[in-house]
Amino acid sequence: MFSPRPIGHVRSLYKTTSEIPKGLGAKHDAEGLLEILPEFETGLTDIEGFSHLIVLWVFDRAGGFDLIGTPPSDNRPHGVFATRSPRRPNPIGLTVVELLSRDGRNLRVRGVDMLDGTPILDLKPYLSSISEEKLRRGWLAEAEARRK
Ligand SMILES: C[S@@+](CC[C@H](N)C(=O)[O-])C[C@H]1O[C@@H](n2cnc3c(N)ncnc32)[C@H](O)[C@@H]1O
Repeated sequence: MFSPRPIGHVRSLYKTTSEIPKGLGAKHDAEGLLEILPEFETGLTDIEGFSHLIVLWVFDRAGGFDLIGTPPSDNRPHGVFATRSPRRPNPIGLTVVELLSRDGRNLRVRGVDMLDGTPILDLKPYLSSISEEKLRRGWLAEAEARRK
C-alpha cells in the first residue's frame, strides 16, 4: 500500500453538500478549477489534447462509512459498492469532467460534483470503451423506470 497525497485541489462554487445537485436526472454541468500543485505541473504535459478527464479525489468531509445505504436516486437500500455514496470504506471519489482549458497548472473543467477544496489524488484521460449495448445500469435503470 502507499500513503496517498494530494496532487492538487478542486476549486468549485460548492461550499456545502446541499448545494450539489443530487438524485435521478441531476445535471452536473458546473464549472470549476483543478489546481494542480507546482511540483506536479510537468505531469500535465500533453493533457490539453483530451476532451474529458477522470478525476480521482478524496471525500475528505464524509466521516465514516455504511455498507448499506439508500441513495438520493432511489427509495430502496443498496450495498455501498453498488452506489456512488461518499460514505465508503476508502473515501475515494471518481468524476469524469470535460476539460475546457488549461492555464499553466490550472485546468478549467465542466462537470464538477466536488466541494471547494477537495483534494485531488490523480488525473487520467477518459477513454470510453464500453458500447451502449453492453452497458447495464443495474438498480439505477429500475429506479428510473419506476419514476416514469
Ligand atoms: C454521490 S457522490 C459522487 C461523487 C463522484 N462522482 C463519484 O462517483 O465518486 C457526490 C456527492 O459527494 C458529496 N461530496 C462532494 N465533495 C465532497 C467532499 N470533499 N467530501 C465529502 N463529500 C463530498 C456531495 O454530497 C456530492 O453530492
